[in-house]
Amino acid sequence: MAFDTIAYISEIVKVMLRLFGILMVSSAALFSFTNSIGSSSVEEAVQKRIEMFKSSGTNIKKLHQLIRSGDFSASVEFVDFHIKWSEDMLLLFPEGSEASTSNGSDASSDIWRDTAGFENQIRQYNLSSIELKKAVKSKRINQINKKFERLIKSCKSCHNQFRN
Ligand code: HEC
Repeated sequence: MAFDTIAYISEIVKVMLRLFGILMVSSAALFSFTNSIGSSSVEEAVQKRIEMFKSSGTNIKKLHQLIRSGDFSASVEFVDFHIKWSEDMLLLFPEGSEASTSNGSDASSDIWRDTAGFENQIRQYNLSSIELKKAVKSKRINQINKKFERLIKSCKSCHNQFRN
């Protein structure tokens, strides 16, 4: 009788320990899963935006050459890149993605301290690219040069304020 009871209790304890083990393992798996999603999306955003900015720099050089050579029809699609990029840029600046010692970013933490200011810089960039597109389509070289300068100013102005 006493032996039966002890065997019974030890069986229950074994089952409980097993359940507890499963719970520990699954919660650890869940934790590392959410953790890896959390950090990888921020890292991916940083890598993606650096790539986009590099393309933007290369694009500007080509666009400048095209404008100087009077190839306005080829210029349009280069300008379209900036219209699109200015529409998407904010998505690649999630919370917690400012420059750190490990992420290779030059993004100033002021972006998140002064979000309205950052959004305003993006808006200026967007407007400048839309105006340049109109000028390019009009084929008026004075307008094109003026609006190209303005686009470059919008890059520099944001860099002065929000890039380290
Ligand atoms: C609204 C703000 C903003 C505008 C507008 C902007 N940039 Fe930037 N740019 C940044 C920030 C912030 C970084 C740093 C990103 C990072 O390292 O995470 C950057 C980085 C760069 C880099 C460096 C990429 C690298 O190799 O690390 C280049 C090149 C660049 N921008 C080009 C341009 C050009 C060209 C324009 C205009 C056509 C432009 N940017 C417009 C904010 C802006």
